[in-house]
Amino acid sequence: MKPVNVGLLGLGTVGGGTVNVLKRNGKEIARRAGRGIEITHASARDLKKARICDTQGIKLTSKPQDVVDDPNVEIIVELMGGTTLAHEMVLRAINNGKHVVTANKALIAKHGNEIFAAATRKGVMVAFEAAVAGGIPIIKAIREGLAGNHIQWAAGIINGTSNFILTEMRDKGRDFADVLAEAQQLGYAEADPTFDIEGIDAGHKLTIIASIAFGIPLQFEAMYTEGISKITRDDVAYAEELGYRIKLLGITKRLEKGVELRVHPTMIPERRLIANVDGVMNAVLVNGDAVGPTLYYGAGAGAEPTASAVVADLVDVVRALTSDSENRVPHLAFQAGALSDLPILSIDDVETAYYLRMQALDKPGVLADITRILADQQISIEAIIQKEPTPAMQSVSVIMLTHKVQERRMNAAIQRIEALGSINGAVTRIRVESLGSK
Ligand code: NAP
Ligand code: HSE
Repeated sequence: MKPVNVGLLGLGTVGGGTVNVLKRNGKEIARRAGRGIEITHASARDLKKARICDTQGIKLTSKPQDVVDDPNVEIIVELMGGTTLAHEMVLRAINNGKHVVTANKALIAKHGNEIFAAATRKGVMVAFEAAVAGGIPIIKAIREGLAGNHIQWAAGIINGTSNFILTEMRDKGRDFADVLAEAQQLGYAEADPTFDIEGIDAGHKLTIIASIAFGIPLQFEAMYTEGISKITRDDVAYAEELGYRIKLLGITKRLEKGVELRVHPTMIPERRLIANVDGVMNAVLVNGDAVGPTLYYGAGAGAEPTASAVVADLVDVVRALTSDSENRVPHLAFQAGALSDLPILSIDDVETAYYLRMQALDKPGVLADITRILADQQISIEAIIQKEPTPAMQSVSVIMLTHKVQERRMNAAIQRIEALGSINGAVTRIRVESLGSK
């Protein structure tokens, strides 16, 4: 049978990795797909740039629309990134009756509802395995492998760049900016790295996970995001002292009143497997009522790990080319007409435990003032550490772990603590999750 012709938008880290994997493993891939898969037409901004892949035999253009409009191409792989040109090209490809594979989580999180509706109308597939957790087949695992479960929650380290930064800060005492520059050089970071360090990229991925886990529309705009840029080496060290690790976690839970959807630095007990996921590696924990907790681990970014997911999607699309569109796995796991309207909860309604760190004057009565404020908000303390003041300092670091409390109450308490004359500067707050099976 004739190979399937594929058009590729983007020849950067993931695009280059995809060309390489398809070339190297072409025969094995054809045995799986039932047909060969060939990239015949590709676009990039600068055609003179050196590439990580060999582009011989591929027609090149700087105009993505030439690829999208190529009548010989059946599948478009979008690996440009961004949400403007990529959005336009994906809709144009769908409109041209072509199937789409993309690694672009920002695009799916923000415009996925529109894109899937357009694809359904045209009877084409849009596959996006590489958009979440790089090489880990988490979309397939949740959408198909866990289809028998009522999924209760999922939590994951789903940004490789920020995990790499936190790990290097902890293990080698390296500087934040220095590690970020290395992550960019290794091709892990987004074009705008604030997406990685401020939790936005993880938010895009969590939006997708929540939709396929709970059968809700994609709702990135309701997501709470907080990044790692304010985490200090002291916090990392104090967390260790308390038996915890700090990770940028995406957490989504389905409760009766709504869905929690939040990304923030989180302290996790170090005995949990996920607390030991380091470097660029990602891991996603998914808890289903029948299966219990399941953990998926692997490389979350980089050329070939991500290409692994892109090529798996290509194989799926090629296998399904001849199936009729009603009998395919639905884009968001649940049938389009069966999505739930469960609301996304405000972060103020979320209940977690907390780590607090503050600089307090070293004088009698200060701790009593702080604990009184916490008691007024019905916040109970699990552990408290007061550090010896260094000779140059007038103040001491006070570190507390609290039991679970609603975020709204904690905000009120922090506001009052920060107003005390005996407290210097802002209170650092990191949410704590036990990630047990309940
Ligand atoms: P990248 O290295 O920056 O590559 C982007 C490619 O798109 C480049 O080849 C670039 O051309 C081309 N491009 C960008 N704007 C264009 C335009 N206006 N016209 C024509 N071509 C254009 O990005 P990447 O890291 O491969 O990421 C691609 C996508 O995969 C993004 O959505 C990203 O979020 C996602 N992703 C990345 C990773 C990762 O580890 N990097 C992992 C998972 C998902 P030039 O090369 O000529 O500049
Ligand atoms: N910038 C992303 C990360 C790429 O660091 O996880 C993978 O999606």
